[in-house]
Amino acid sequence: MSIHDDIERVLIDTPTLHQRIATLGAQITSDYHGEPVTLVGVLKGAVLFVADLARAIDAPVALDFMAVSSYGNTMQSQGRVRILKDLDDPIAGKHVLVVEDIIDTGLTLNNLLQLLRQRQPASVRVCALLDKAKTQMRADYTGFTIEDAFVVGYGLDYAQQYRNLPYIGVLKPHVYHGA
Ligand code: PRP
Repeated sequence: MSIHDDIERVLIDTPTLHQRIATLGAQITSDYHGEPVTLVGVLKGAVLFVADLARAIDAPVALDFMAVSSYGNTMQSQGRVRILKDLDDPIAGKHVLVVEDIIDTGLTLNNLLQLLRQRQPASVRVCALLDKAKTQMRADYTGFTIEDAFVVGYGLDYAQQYRNLPYIGVLKPHVYHGA
């Protein structure tokens, strides 16, 4: 009995993830020209990604976190975003880089960006590990564009499980159909 048994196939393996994150970190390092940047990790999915991305950036980095809710424990979008935990510190005049695990419908990010821009940061950009080919919205920095499958691992969950898988995988349908 292993959590890996619930995975139909590995979509992005661990070395590929780490190579891509190193490249993203190098791009971000170069683009910010040594300016301090506040990484805003969106809980909980982005936790593993932001931890690795922060270590791939050679610039003064502050870490802060927000928790928002759009999906709950189901696979359906509720069409709105609720703030569960706000940032600890003000971002006025700061360079903010929002770090997300995935852009699915783009709803979460749209709402979050509106809110953050009202606080008058020096800049707001987005780094998303994953986005979906079907979705219009694109981050400033994107790890991988993926097919429209239900993916878990490396921070992404199903019913709060599988976040600790060290790769991105497609869940076996029987897991979420309750078979
Ligand atoms: C997931 C993910 C994004 C959002 C993307 O979060 O981390 O924040 O959904 O979906 P969207 O583009 O359709 O809005 P979730 O609400 O599942 O919380 P979690 O990060 O705690 O798993």
